[in-house]
Parts: sequence; structure tokens; C-alpha cells
Amino acid sequence: MFGNNIFKNHRFNYWLSILPIFFASTEAQYLRAEPGVIVEEGDPIRWSLSSDKATYQIIFAEDGDLAAGFFGPVSGSRLAENPDISASGKIGTAMREIPYRGGFMEMNPALEVIFGDNTRELELRYVSHETGMLEQYPYIVLHMKDSYYPLQVSEYIRVIPELDIFEKWLVLRNKGEQKIIIENASSGSALLPEGTYDLIQLSGDWGREFYPRRSRLTPGLKSLFIRDLKSHRHAPLFMVRPSADADEHSGPVWFGTPLWTGNWRIDLEVLRNERLQVSGGINFWDTHWVLEGGEEFVTPKMVFGFSDDGPGGASRRLHRYQIDHLAPESSRGSIMPVLYNSWYATTFDINEPQQIKLARLAAEVGVELFVVDDAWFKGRNNSLAGLGDWTPDPVKFPRGLGPLISTVKGLEMKFGIWVEPEMVNPNSDLFRDHPEWALHTPNRTAHEHRNQLMLNLARDDVRDHILGWMDRLLSENEIDFIKWDMNRRVSEAGWPEAPAARQRELWIRYVHNLTRILKELKKRHPQVVFESCSGGGGRANLAILSLMDQVWTSDNTDPGDRLHIQYGYSHFLPARTMVNWVTDHEWHDKDTSLKFRFHVSMAGNLGVGCEIDKWSNEDKMLAREMVGLYKSVRHIIQLGDQYRLRDPFKGNLIALQFVSRDGSESVVFCFQTLETLPGSGKELSGRLVLHGLDPQANYTLSGDIESVDLSGAVLMSSGIYLPLENNYTSKMVILKRN
Ligand code: DGJ
Repeated sequence: MFGNNIFKNHRFNYWLSILPIFFASTEAQYLRAEPGVIVEEGDPIRWSLSSDKATYQIIFAEDGDLAAGFFGPVSGSRLAENPDISASGKIGTAMREIPYRGGFMEMNPALEVIFGDNTRELELRYVSHETGMLEQYPYIVLHMKDSYYPLQVSEYIRVIPELDIFEKWLVLRNKGEQKIIIENASSGSALLPEGTYDLIQLSGDWGREFYPRRSRLTPGLKSLFIRDLKSHRHAPLFMVRPSADADEHSGPVWFGTPLWTGNWRIDLEVLRNERLQVSGGINFWDTHWVLEGGEEFVTPKMVFGFSDDGPGGASRRLHRYQIDHLAPESSRGSIMPVLYNSWYATTFDINEPQQIKLARLAAEVGVELFVVDDAWFKGRNNSLAGLGDWTPDPVKFPRGLGPLISTVKGLEMKFGIWVEPEMVNPNSDLFRDHPEWALHTPNRTAHEHRNQLMLNLARDDVRDHILGWMDRLLSENEIDFIKWDMNRRVSEAGWPEAPAARQRELWIRYVHNLTRILKELKKRHPQVVFESCSGGGGRANLAILSLMDQVWTSDNTDPGDRLHIQYGYSHFLPARTMVNWVTDHEWHDKDTSLKFRFHVSMAGNLGVGCEIDKWSNEDKMLAREMVGLYKSVRHIIQLGDQYRLRDPFKGNLIALQFVSRDGSESVVFCFQTLETLPGSGKELSGRLVLHGLDPQANYTLSGDIESVDLSGAVLMSSGIYLPLENNYTSKMVILKRN
């Protein structure tokens, strides 16, 4: 129906519509676009989307379908032939660009629908395409249409050339009158070249989030997903590299993440010919979406990226992507303040005089943001009551929050407060007034977790209620910071009040409404910084970090464990977003020096969570010194590039380096955890080869090292020697270009 002729007419228009810059590759026999330019070439036609280091191709097939072409390094793009296409000119059993349910099923389906007459097969055909700029970056949209039913499917791909990132998403439009049920709609699928690959994933649990694991991808399907809104078990990230490669700093790595802070999914399937298909987006488990006539459904983005400098390069691209492109505009590029939070010092036992006393002490050591955690609101003396009733507790704060806030401001600090808006205790006025607002399923146990139930945020009245009281809280008080917690997992995800056909939209509507609240609050209160917390790092992803500014990394603050958690976190998200509090020994497995604990926490977004009223003068002086030191280098840590020098899972000497983007400044942290016995195989020399510096320039080194001048070339070949001999000792070195 949509044959070559129609296509070729369009192709003519296309050539008129853009002025591609390209050069010929004689070896490859086809053209390659300059980074950031989308070109069309060859016969059968293919579209090439190029970034600095990678190419992504889509091939037009004679039957009007679109096939996945090459995705990988620019230098390898001559491998673009798709054997299935070139043999017949028809897509037949080939690898589809949008792998839908219908015809021969070679791939893991990324799009599955049911039409009004119960037909479950799709037959998508190319209609047209457009290119242009979306928020300053080039994109292509390929419009497809079912050959019989009134469904339009548009695939968008936006390229961020300098980061080698390709964002993909789908828009589904019902152009008819009968409803269409979407059973599954991944945001994007990509096909990697033939090869044997290993997967690097970040999987752990509460208190040990983000542990990197590497495993071989064998034929079959490997899925990473959650059936929840909390994501302690897996971070939504994949990195894939050839199985033979091991170096942190070199070699090809494909990576990606769905921009969806809910029930996400990433599928990796080794197909025939050893091609690896990766797809991702919303996890449609227990979920569907009803598309009525005239409606459209937009999937979240699935981000695909390519690094030619190993997992380290993949992480740095993701970090820059968050810092430069996703972070909320009101705080993009800004420096995050040093905070104090008394949760570990006080837990639920708080009151106004005590918080004022802690605020004065925090100000003395240089803290810039004072945060009141849980237990400030009505009836909240433990986890049994209070969630839902967001007014200051009359016993703990008889004068309201005003006096505490003005004291904090008088001490020249910002003021922050903890909330958990998505939750309700059965023992609360909110629940007594609106029991139907909690998620529930008739005739089933309403499971509590931490004595709380979850509000059904898929409901618009719940959304409006949360937006209303949050807006009032922020409007009536001079609040600069919100720690937004979410402590329980989902159970009984029922919505019996909704029409039957809509009840399973709950998982998606919940995330849509959460997103709306956060966007609206940011719009109305742009100065407020938001921290995403979910019983530690259960809600740490790039979607939430486009709405909020930072993440509470883990409830586990033991510095030895933290080195592992922080190492894992760095694979995915930037140090600027990773909040690390220095806490007291009672919360740790082992006793370590205050300096060691500060160094661990300074390798990210520094906070203090100690019983500072019990600190000696010596402790206070050291804390003040460390906070001051952190402030002098945090622009490098928070906005620079990170290099992982030593892996805590491979030895007891752990090191990392931050470099400012212009290469003029750098900070190196080095930690020794346990002493190792000579000959144990775990001992490591203290020599650290550095990265990211200007080889031509000279740098002055200072800090926990004898001051010395060395060239970038020497620092990046011979490195520096930072020996550490005792258990739980650390060093920090600062480099400045002369
Ligand atoms: C869980 C968080 O991870 C903690 O930091 C703290 O805010 C508690 N919730 C408060 O209930």
C-alpha cells in the first residue's frame, strides 16, 4: 500500500528540506553524516543519525516497513547491511526498527495492541518523516500507519551528538472511533552488531543499593524490571560491552536507561546471528492503556548511548546528560549546599528547642542548609501515626515552624523539611476522612508496611490534594528544600472506583500525576531544591532527576559500605546528585576516624548527620576545616567529570578522581579499607595513574601529599604515589593547572 513510489516522492521533498553536510567513504560505498546531521542515503534507503562517536541507522524495506540498521561506532558503520533486507528487499523476518506483534516474530515485541474487533496483529507501514530541531538538538520522526486499522505510530529519535546519546520515544494515535487497547509499548528498541556481550547492571537491595554486577548475555531474554514504584533491587540502567573487554577506561560500551520513574523495564535478548536487541520503557506488567478514538499516548523516552572509552566514558556521558540536559532548569549548573539533617541523631524525638540548638551548632561548622526530617507533623511520635496530617505537631512545635525557620535564616542557613506525600497512616485524619484514597482491592488484606498505606495517586482528587497542601506549606513558610520520601512498596494496586477498563492504567496514571505535581511545584516555587528519597536510594533515576535535584543515596551510611554504594551509583548518576552524610559510629559496622568519614562523604554532595551536640572541640574544628575544604573544591566534584581509578569490589585500595571540564583543576580521593597481608593477592600499590588532564600543562599538587609540580603527561602515565598503610585511612589531593 505504501510502496516505493510514494516514498521516493517524499524522499525528493526531504532532500529539498535539509542541507546535509556529509562526506563520502569509498570503502563503505555510502555517505556518512557529520555529527548531529541526519542524512538519507543508498538503495534501499537508510537514514543515518550520527553523533560524535556513534551512528544509528534505520533502513527502509520494499514492503514499506522499517528495519533496524547499524548502531555502534562511526568507524564500524560500514557493517550497516541488514542481511534480511538485502536478500529480499522485503522486511519479512527481518529485524524491525519498531518490533511490533504481527507477522513473523523474530524479536522481543516492543509494541502490542488489540483493535476493536479483537485483532492482535499489527502491520506497520512507513508514511512520511520529518527532521528538525527539538530543544536545540536534531531529531527525526518517522510516521508509520497500520495497513488497515486507524492506528498511527510515530517514532521520534533525538540526537545529542557530543554525548553520543540517542533518545527514542513513540507517539501512538487512534485516528478511528473504536478503542484500541495498548498492551505493551516500549519507548524504543535498538539492535547491536553481531557479537558476544556482557551486561553490567546495578542490582542490590535496601542498604546496599547500586552494586555493579557483570554477566555474559547468552541466547535468550534477560529482563531487568520492577513491578513496583520503588527500585532498590535494580537501578534502571544497562551497560553492554564485548565480553573480552575489561578496561574501565577504553573499549566500546552501549548503555541506556528509560526515563520513567515507575514500573520500568529493560529487555536484552540475544537473537539469531548473535545480534543483541535492547529495548526499554514502561513495564506493562499488570498494566494497559485504553486509547479511545482521537486520543494519543506518548511513551516516556528510552535513552540509548554509546561510549568508546569504556564504562567510565558511559558514566561521564550520563552524568553530563543529567547535569546539562535533564536537571530542573531552576537549579541547573548550580552548586548544591552542604546540609545538616538530624534524623540519625534524633530519629522521631524532636522539638523546637532541640532543633534550634542543633541549627546553631551546624552553622558553626559551616553548614548552609538545615533540614528537619520526619516527625515534625501532627501526631508523629513514631511510625504508627501522622502521615497524611501535614500541620506542625502542636506539642513539638507549639509556635508552629515560624520560630525555627527564622532562627535558621538568622544563622544565614537555608531551611529544609521532610515530607512523604504519597503515604498515609491508617491512624490519621486523612485516612479517617478518605479511606478510599488508599490503594486497595476488595476482599483482600490491605498490607501495611512501616505501618502505612499508599495513596492512590492515579486519582486526580488525590493529586490535587497533595498539590494543594504542598503548595500551601511552601507558600506559607520560607522553605528552601524538600526531602520527598517514599518508604513503602506497592501492594493491592487496586482502584475499584474507576471504570473496569481503566483500572489497570493505575501504574501509569500514578507516575503521570506524580510528575505533574513535581513540575507544578517547581514552577510555583522555583527556588526550592528537592531531594528524592525512598527509604534510601529506592527512587534514583534520570526521570526523577529531571524533576528533583538530588537523591538520598542509601540509609546505609557506614563509610566502608558507602565506598561500594557510591562506586556503583557513579556508574549511573552524577556526584552532584548523590547525598552523603557523615554519621556517628552507632550507625556503622566499624569505627573510623572523622576525617575518613568526611573524605567518603565529600566524594559527592556533602551532608552532616551526626549528634553534633556531642562533638568535642577537636571534632568541631576538624569538621569546620573539612566543610571549608569541600566548599573550595566542590565545583570540581559536582560539575566536573569523574574517573573511577580503583574498584572497591576488587581490592582494599579505592580511588576516584574528579576533573573540571576545562582540565584546569582536579581532586583525587584515595581510601584504604582493610589492610591486606602480603601475598594475599589483594595488596595494591599506592600508585594512581590519573586521567582527563591536559598533557601539555603543569599542575601543582597539594593536600595530603608533599606539594609538588608535575606535568599532565607524567600524571597520566606514571601517576602519583599515595601509599596508605593503616585500616580505614584516606588521602585527598588537589591539582591546579599552573
Ligand atoms: C527513610 C529515609 O531514608 C531516612 O533518611 C529518613 O528520612 C526516614 N525515612 C524518616 O522516616
